[in-house]
Amino acid sequence: MKLINKITAGRIWRSIFRTGLPSTNYRRSLVILNNFFLHLHPAKVKKSSIKFTTTFYLGGLSFALFLILTVTGIFLMFYYHPAVPLAYRDMKDLEFVVSNGKLLRNLHRWSAHAMVVTASLHMLRVFFTRAFHPPREFNWVIGVFLLLITLLLSYTGYLLPWDQLAYWGVSVGTNMIKAMPVVGDKIRFLLLGGNITGENALLRFYVLHCVILPLVLSVLVGVHFWRIRKDGGLQAESAGRLSEKTDLILGEKTNPRKDESLVHSNSIRSK
Ligand code: HEM
Repeated sequence: MKLINKITAGRIWRSIFRTGLPSTNYRRSLVILNNFFLHLHPAKVKKSSIKFTTTFYLGGLSFALFLILTVTGIFLMFYYHPAVPLAYRDMKDLEFVVSNGKLLRNLHRWSAHAMVVTASLHMLRVFFTRAFHPPREFNWVIGVFLLLITLLLSYTGYLLPWDQLAYWGVSVGTNMIKAMPVVGDKIRFLLLGGNITGENALLRFYVLHCVILPLVLSVLVGVHFWRIRKDGGLQAESAGRLSEKTDLILGEKTNPRKDESLVHSNSIRSK
């Protein structure tokens, strides 16, 4: 115990953990504000916004699944080569040779399916609670891109096992893109790196799936969370303030400029 006290009172410890044990509300707030991982949260959270029925935790679940996908995806990259002669063999090795490989692959697969479901349900929750209204309309647009990238991640991952399902799934999908007027052909060429679903397509889908799309999603998720704070927390938390802000933006009821002009015209009349 003496040793622990000595360590926690030492200069090295205090240079990392500045607030000490949080015994008061003020110190508890400091712990949140001074922590790199926690400072995205507000120091205080309303009970209503952590109630299960407010959000059904669908946004948080989507994020948790994204983290699981990132971790399992990195482990999968240790065993997978994005090359036509190797890709299918690597998937079979994962299933029958690598210890817990099947578990790893299925964790990645099922989390991907689940993320599509939770992100879609999250969008419905936001829609039916009218949380897309001002001032949250920009976050709604970011959300639309998040869902789009989630779907693109699923689609690009689909080709990687290089089995019959993957090959024909991507062939049909990219032929559908080809049917688009004017730009269809060009987008298909860009996606496949040629005119057929082959080596180049596999490499492009791999880079999109493992690097570009996860990076874009991470940045957008950061902006999404930051906007929630800047928009005054969750919609349920600020229902009163929300209608005030909405009225201000739409120029109804409590528009101060209207009130100002009322005062102004009254003062003219009284003169
Ligand atoms: C990768 C997908 C997504 C993640 C990880 C994510 C994450 C979150 C989280 C954690 C919250 C706060 C808690 C909650 O409402 O559950 C939230 C709120 C919100 N999300 Fe998302 N989201 C995603 C996709 C979307 C989509 C597809 C939309 C709509 C098109 C959207 C629009 C919003 C809005 C407007 C809020 C604020 C809700 C409010 O104030 O009540 N998000 N998001």
